[in-house]
Amino acid sequence: MRIYDIILKKRNGHELSDEEINFFIKGLMDGSIPDYQATALLMAIYFKGLNKRETAQLTMSMVNSGDVLDLSSIEGLKVDKHSTGGVGDKISLIIIPLVASTGVPVAKISGRGLGHTGGTVDKLEAIPGFKIDLSAEDFINNVNEHKMAIVGQTANLTPADKKLYALRDVTATVDSIPLIASSIMSKKIASGADCIVLDVKVGSGAFMKSIDEAVLLAETMVEIGHSLNKRTIAVVSDMSQPLGHEVGNANEVSEAIEVLRGNGAEDETTIALTIASYMAVLGGAFSDFNEAYGYLQGIIKSGKALDNFKKLIAIQGGNPDIADHPEMLPQAKHHIEIKSSQIGYVNSIDAESIGIAAMLLGAGRKRKNDLIDYAAGITIKKKVGEKVDSNDTICVMHTNLDNWDQAKDIVAKAFIIEKSGNKPAKYIHEIIQ
Ligand code: URA
Repeated sequence: MRIYDIILKKRNGHELSDEEINFFIKGLMDGSIPDYQATALLMAIYFKGLNKRETAQLTMSMVNSGDVLDLSSIEGLKVDKHSTGGVGDKISLIIIPLVASTGVPVAKISGRGLGHTGGTVDKLEAIPGFKIDLSAEDFINNVNEHKMAIVGQTANLTPADKKLYALRDVTATVDSIPLIASSIMSKKIASGADCIVLDVKVGSGAFMKSIDEAVLLAETMVEIGHSLNKRTIAVVSDMSQPLGHEVGNANEVSEAIEVLRGNGAEDETTIALTIASYMAVLGGAFSDFNEAYGYLQGIIKSGKALDNFKKLIAIQGGNPDIADHPEMLPQAKHHIEIKSSQIGYVNSIDAESIGIAAMLLGAGRKRKNDLIDYAAGITIKKKVGEKVDSNDTICVMHTNLDNWDQAKDIVAKAFIIEKSGNKPAKYIHEIIQ
């Protein structure tokens, strides 16, 4: 077999065999296929696509390139959740304590943020002492004992995806549905969960800019999950403006706590309850979605959701007092208010621009190895549809840097204020079962 022939075959729009896909991933990993040929094949896939079988095979070849977590010693159906990435997306922090309260074991594997999108691992590390690099043994023990644990991705989980993603990132081949679907699903399959709820974000802050594209990605991932015997559901949720009010790390932890107290913003409360309810249904705690939803609302009201979050922090080595005293979380030196110069209504807030501005303030990474500042971020004071008077504060930037001019320009342009109002988009566009 020659990689040249495989590139030619895909370039001409033909189907690759399972053996050819395996050959590609094996050669990528052992160095016998150079990066320039790997990226030529990625570009051919970008233009010619992969069918369902090819996408499932690429997923499995990437799973088999590294370790697969064995969670079989955890009793019950293990559930995990994955977001395709957004701005202000703190849903994972909220759903872990919620779903654990139903008795369904939550074995959550999370990643770090890159570019304009944040990562759950970074947000949790904003909590003093919180340890995300648990050993496989501690992870499994915690899920068995407490029904919840979260761990960062280990170095040897789907190494082929890491290598391919790095190549895609610099060759304009990230936004290909089969490549995104196989990348995400390979990590979820290698993580060992039995049930997966996917949060596919759509809008200006997401990879998928249109609902049709997002639905196609969601369907592709659900099909991969089903073909590999994983109970899988996808929720297509809105990312046309930042989720909730806080974008950053420590400030997102504070906002997640507010949702768990029952005082959260409506968009993130609805999306979190929807995802948590599907996780509880897939995990077998409920047969009916509405019953699960009602139960979880009760768990928030009773204070158990917040207690469970404190428990999660404590078992992972963090200081649970931050749940009652969020001011103990890292705080920035500067808080810069951005004011409206117009009277009217917020028509749109470009989520990607807010994510980029937060990154420039220190809250995110331009490159994989950049350090982040947990205290940095942005608070959105006026969301889409809200009325603004001239000189009203529309958002506040938090930073420890002494120069924020570029972020300020980007933020100011991200808010579009018009004379007449625009209704916020639906929080949830589709559910793919
Ligand atoms: N997230 C991933 O993990 N992979 C992609 O390809 C895109 C988003």
